[in-house]
Amino acid sequence: MEFTIKAGSPEKLKNGCVVVGVYAGGELSAAAQALDKASDGALAAVLAHGDLDDKAGATLLLHSLPGLATPRVLLVSLGKASELSDKTYRDAVAATAKQLGGIAAEDAAFLLADIDAPRDLAWRLSQAAQILKDSTYRSDTLKSKKEESKKGVRKLAFIVHGKTGEELQTALLRGEAVAEGIALAKNLGNLPGNVCTPGYLATTARKLAKDHKIKVEVLERADMEKLGMGSLLSVARGSHEPPKFIILNYKGGKAKDKPVVLVGKGITFDTGGISLKPGEGMDEMKYDMCGAASVLGTFKAIARMELPINVVGLVPTTENMPGGSAIKPGDIVTSMSGQTIEILNTDAEGRLILCDALTYAERYEPAAVVDIATLTGACIIALGNATSGLLANDDELAAELLASGQAAGDKAWQLPLWDEYQDMLKSNFADIPNIGSKGAGTITAACFLSRFTKAYKWAHLDIAGTAWKSGADKGATGRPVPLLTEFLIGRAGNR
Ligand code: BES
Ligand code: MN
Ligand code: ZN
Repeated sequence: MEFTIKAGSPEKLKNGCVVVGVYAGGELSAAAQALDKASDGALAAVLAHGDLDDKAGATLLLHSLPGLATPRVLLVSLGKASELSDKTYRDAVAATAKQLGGIAAEDAAFLLADIDAPRDLAWRLSQAAQILKDSTYRSDTLKSKKEESKKGVRKLAFIVHGKTGEELQTALLRGEAVAEGIALAKNLGNLPGNVCTPGYLATTARKLAKDHKIKVEVLERADMEKLGMGSLLSVARGSHEPPKFIILNYKGGKAKDKPVVLVGKGITFDTGGISLKPGEGMDEMKYDMCGAASVLGTFKAIARMELPINVVGLVPTTENMPGGSAIKPGDIVTSMSGQTIEILNTDAEGRLILCDALTYAERYEPAAVVDIATLTGACIIALGNATSGLLANDDELAAELLASGQAAGDKAWQLPLWDEYQDMLKSNFADIPNIGSKGAGTITAACFLSRFTKAYKWAHLDIAGTAWKSGADKGATGRPVPLLTEFLIGRAGNR
């Protein structure tokens, strides 16, 4: 979908469809009032029939209203005016996207953002652009016949009253850039394990670097051996696919600015290894590289925005397979940090690849490190599929990420990383076991990681519940690209 921003009077618009908001009880937004007036009360008359639901996101498509140049008016319910929130606005935009995908109009004019809340106009435009663009995403790359619809709006003008200045253009670009980042993350996530291998992720990173102002380096097994990444390499032992360690470098900031480092879990398929997972639903473990995908997606977004900030991306990537050379429960390996790890469960492999990447991150003297991982099933038990888990060794950083999630509509919730939980990690034979004693699985996983992040401010996002959807709508969500991008936008502006 192509976007523009224009100033104009609602009643004069000639677009194939004009989208305006209506509040609960038939209360008209300013734009809807203008259409109503020009059509001699036709809009209010239709609403009086009561067909438009009060709930935010309900829609009603009207044709050929008198006195208007447009053939279609799409009424979208915004819910109660007094209860307008980030969520009701986003719901209304998502419903709009769905309707615009199914009508025969070429172009549309969007006046939903031209209201007084929530947040400011720039936020409303940015969110709308992101949601509308994201709604056109299709996961049909591996279908022999693509779903080609002749219908659907291709061009959309955001109509605002007053100035259409640079701030709004930036907001629009940001929304589009986030949608592009989401699309990349979704594509990678949805690809099957036999296509999206560690090598495929490396190739994707190289391509991303070629198209944007990003540098990439890929470490091979021998390089990792030299660095002493014994923990990461132990996970790769069962697999025939060579592991990779991908390093992305985006330098949009000043040379001396310390970078933010993003670390993404890149298990391209998690069988559990010798601690084999049950068969049911195992196909979804192709999504175990969604942390890595979100790092690549975020790089795409910030590079498109040309954000003035320095960011390093680290992606340790391998399969977790059983095999004759695979690690076994009870094996002890030495991590790059020098700490020895007793592998009591080969299915707790994410932390084993992340810990070496977190040690590697020290060399950048980072301003902050954020790792993103589909790390624990326990996180889905705790928070379900709406919210990512957040744990951090720095409360200011945690607060920053929580606020970014709120603003981006990609929310996280903090769990405690108190010392009491550190006591749940005890090994009789090594410095640390790779699993904790029973309970608090998301927290003990983060406790494990925290043993490798003492040198800097660090936060961990557990996206096990948010990175993809199961069931009939099975598919990657692209989360937490919006949260991460919002966080980096904030950092670029503040420091
Ligand atoms: N990738 C999984 C976590 C996961 C499971 C994410 C299901 C989403 C859905 C991870 O590698 C894993 O297997 N974790 C184990 C840890 C346990 C062995 C301590 C888990 O959560 O069961
Ligand atoms: Mn696992
Ligand atoms: Zn895993």
